[in-house]
Amino acid sequence: MSAIREKAAFPEIEVARWSASSLHGLIEHITSRHHAYLRGELPWMERAIARAAEAGGRAGSSTLAPLSRTFRFFKRELELHLRKEEEVLFPLIRQMETAVNSGAGPSRYSFGSIANPIGILEEDHKGEGRQIDQMLDWIGNYGGPRQTAPIVGPLFDRLQALDADMRLHVQLEDEILFPRVRLLEGES
Ligand SMILES: [Fe+2]
Ligand SMILES: [Fe+2]
Repeated sequence: MSAIREKAAFPEIEVARWSASSLHGLIEHITSRHHAYLRGELPWMERAIARAAEAGGRAGSSTLAPLSRTFRFFKRELELHLRKEEEVLFPLIRQMETAVNSGAGPSRYSFGSIANPIGILEEDHKGEGRQIDQMLDWIGNYGGPRQTAPIVGPLFDRLQALDADMRLHVQLEDEILFPRVRLLEGES
């Protein structure tokens, strides 16, 4: 596994659409599309991994135990990350955009620049990517002749779908939302 997570091509149409939209609109899209998806998918996958470990008996539980532990950690951290965005950063961004649109003066925060909380969330994204890569590696290794339970195949598919959705989600934040916010703060 490479230390740097390989980047997928970011669809041009997404770049064009969200570079031109309001930040309010982009945030609404991220929460209603990507955060809502994760809130449904993460509990489903946690249960599915536990079932796969049970179905595989002693062998299944020993091979799937590391996956199960990593997934529980990943889920807990990611749910916290979503809350940091929805309860802290996104409200600040909406406030900033409203203030700039109304011609109000620059916002001042107790934590300094808005780039500081953004930097923390960018670091979270890297950790989440590494954990997904590790879990895909593990499940991929079970997908061959050593497959311990029929549920492992669907699990791999669901984890790949989660990976694809996370890549788009993180690209929207790292490559469009966050740079636009830094720019806006510079202008305000
Ligand atoms: Fe997000
Ligand atoms: Fe994020």
